[in-house]
Amino acid sequence: MTREVVRPGDDAQNRRLLLRLTGIVALGYGLGASMQAAYIYSRYVPDWAEVSVWSRIAANVAAVVVLLLVLGSLRVYRWPTAPQLFLGAVLASTVAAVCRVFVQLALGVYDEPDGLTIEAEFSAGLIIAGISSGIGMWGLLSRRRVRAELRRAEREAVEVEHVLEALEAEEVRVRREVAEGLHGTLQGKLVIVNAHLVEVIDRIRARGDHPDDVASLEWARRELDVVRELDVRQMSRLLYPERLELGVVPAVRALVGRLPMTIATKIVVAPPVREIDDPERGSLTTAQRLLAVRVVEEGVTNALKFGPASRIVVELDVQDGALVVSVENDGQPLDPSHADPDGGTARLASRLHLVRGTVTLAPLRPRGVRLEARLPL
Ligand SMILES: Nc1ncnc2c1ncn2[C@@H]1O[C@H](COP(=O)(O)OP(=O)(O)OP(=O)(O)O)[C@@H](O)[C@H]1O
Ligand SMILES: [Mg+2]
Repeated sequence: MTREVVRPGDDAQNRRLLLRLTGIVALGYGLGASMQAAYIYSRYVPDWAEVSVWSRIAANVAAVVVLLLVLGSLRVYRWPTAPQLFLGAVLASTVAAVCRVFVQLALGVYDEPDGLTIEAEFSAGLIIAGISSGIGMWGLLSRRRVRAELRRAEREAVEVEHVLEALEAEEVRVRREVAEGLHGTLQGKLVIVNAHLVEVIDRIRARGDHPDDVASLEWARRELDVVRELDVRQMSRLLYPERLELGVVPAVRALVGRLPMTIATKIVVAPPVREIDDPERGSLTTAQRLLAVRVVEEGVTNALKFGPASRIVVELDVQDGALVVSVENDGQPLDPSHADPDGGTARLASRLHLVRGTVTLAPLRPRGVRLEARLPL
């Protein structure tokens, strides 16, 4: 067996377990044996009737005390391997058995014992002490094994958590890089192409020939601008929400601010959220912020898709150590038959599940839907 990693308190726990278990079993054996011996002798050997049961008990209790003292002072509970523990049990039991015989003689349990009697008493003491300390050692070994198992499981859980955190951080990094590539590099190139096209169009127009080509080029230029504005910029926002590095609240404001003016919007932020969302002193990681904004995106998109919603309320709160993000809208009631295992809500649920979070979609009375996600902090 490999030596377990010792933490403060382990030794004290091991010592208590070994001494208690050994002591209880040895006392049980000792008291039982004393009483039985006294009873048998008084019944079948009338001459020995006057031998006090108390002297026998006292001898056995003394042996138990010595057994525990030896185990304790040798610090057997620190010995790492099973054979070492076995050796410790034999040593302590031998000393205890010898003491037991001496105390018996001192208390006059036997008048003039012969060698055979002493040998028998020694062996009985050795067996009692041996079995008791053996049980103590067995308890100690199982406790160590269980502890080592628990610690291994703990370590693995921590490792899984670290891997997950690393993956999250990597996801955020890649998203950010791609978003910046789209927003900066690709958009920049498209703007340059656009500017060249404008030049070419102006030149052709100045020469006054090929009006059809000018119209085609104008169309291509407009298309390019739409691609740049809608596809590139929005795709970039989808990958990495605008203002996310400033916090969830600014990112949600930016997102909700892009909604059509005809939809009334409200963002309710509880004070504890402002605290954890502070970009300098807050505790929210970028991965957590990204997840929270994803929930709002999904809720808002659903509200627009399935509404028609005239009002959308986003709430951010901290409850029971979890960030609670909810999006409510009025509009169509929720149709449970439409639950989609591949839908955005289900995808969010499996993503949140990785960090032990949850997401629910529930109908509101009299009308409307509430999407609520809990993200443990
Ligand atoms: N705000 C809402 N109002 C009414 N019904 C809703 C609302 N949000 C969700 N639903 C219902 O719940 C179903 C599941 O929604 P979910 O977001 O999981 O999938 P989806 O929006 O259909 O697909 P995806 O999110 O992949 O675009 C929807 O098909 C719809 O019937
Ligand atoms: Mg959806």
